Amino acid sequence: VAPAALTVEVAAWFGADGRDLPWRRTRDPWAVLVSELMLQQTGVARVEPRFHAFLARFPTPGTCAAAPAGDVVEEWRGLGYNRRAVNLHRCARAVVDEHDGRLPTDLDALLALPGVGPYTARAVLAFAAETPVGVLDVNVTRALSRLLGRAVTQADADGLAAVADAAAPGGAWAWNQGAMELGATVCRPRPRCEACPAAGRCAWWASGLAGDDPWPRPR
Ligand code: ADE
Repeated sequence: VAPAALTVEVAAWFGADGRDLPWRRTRDPWAVLVSELMLQQTGVARVEPRFHAFLARFPTPGTCAAAPAGDVVEEWRGLGYNRRAVNLHRCARAVVDEHDGRLPTDLDALLALPGVGPYTARAVLAFAAETPVGVLDVNVTRALSRLLGRAVTQADADGLAAVADAAAPGGAWAWNQGAMELGATVCRPRPRCEACPAAGRCAWWASGLAGDDPWPRPR
C-alpha cells in the first residue's frame, strides 16, 4: 500500500461523498466529545436529534457541570446506556474543576478525565483539534486491516494520520473521517468493494478476497 496515495484518495472520496453529519461541522471539543459518547452505542439516525437537543441544553462543560446529574441523564433519553450520561456529567465537572471549563487538547489530560478512554480521547484530538492521530474504532480497524492485509495497530493508524496530515486534501481530519466513513458504509463486515475508493490499493482485494479476512473477527 502506498500510504500517501491511499490517504489522498480516501480523503478526497470523503470530501465528495461523505455524509454531512452535524458533528462534522464543528471543531468544538465539547460537541465532539458529546457526539462520540452518543455514537459509541447508538446509531447515527437516533443520535442526530439528541445531539442537537443535548447541546442546546448543555452548550458547554460548565452548563453541564452546574446541572444535577439527573438532568443530564434525562437529556440522554432515547439513547440508552445511561451510564454514559453519568460519566459525561462527571467529566464536565472535572473539566470545570481542573481545566477552567475547557476540554484539554492533549492526550494524557484527556485520558485522565472520567469516562474518556483511548478511542474517545483520540477522536476529540482528531476531530476537534485536527491533530494527526489515528482514530481506531471497530469499523476503521476492520477497513485498515483489510487495506494493509494484516491486523492494524495504533502505530499504523498514527503513521497514516501523519502521512495524511501532509498529503491529503483536508489533512488528517478528512482522512480520519474518511476512514471512519469507509468502515461504516463500504468496508462493512460484508464489504461493498465495488463502491470503495481504495479497492485498487487494498491488500485483501488484491488477494481476490480469497485468503482469510485479516480483520480479527470476534470468536
Ligand atoms: N461514529 C463515531 N464517530 C463518528 C464520526 N465522526 N462520524 C460518523 N460516525 C461516527
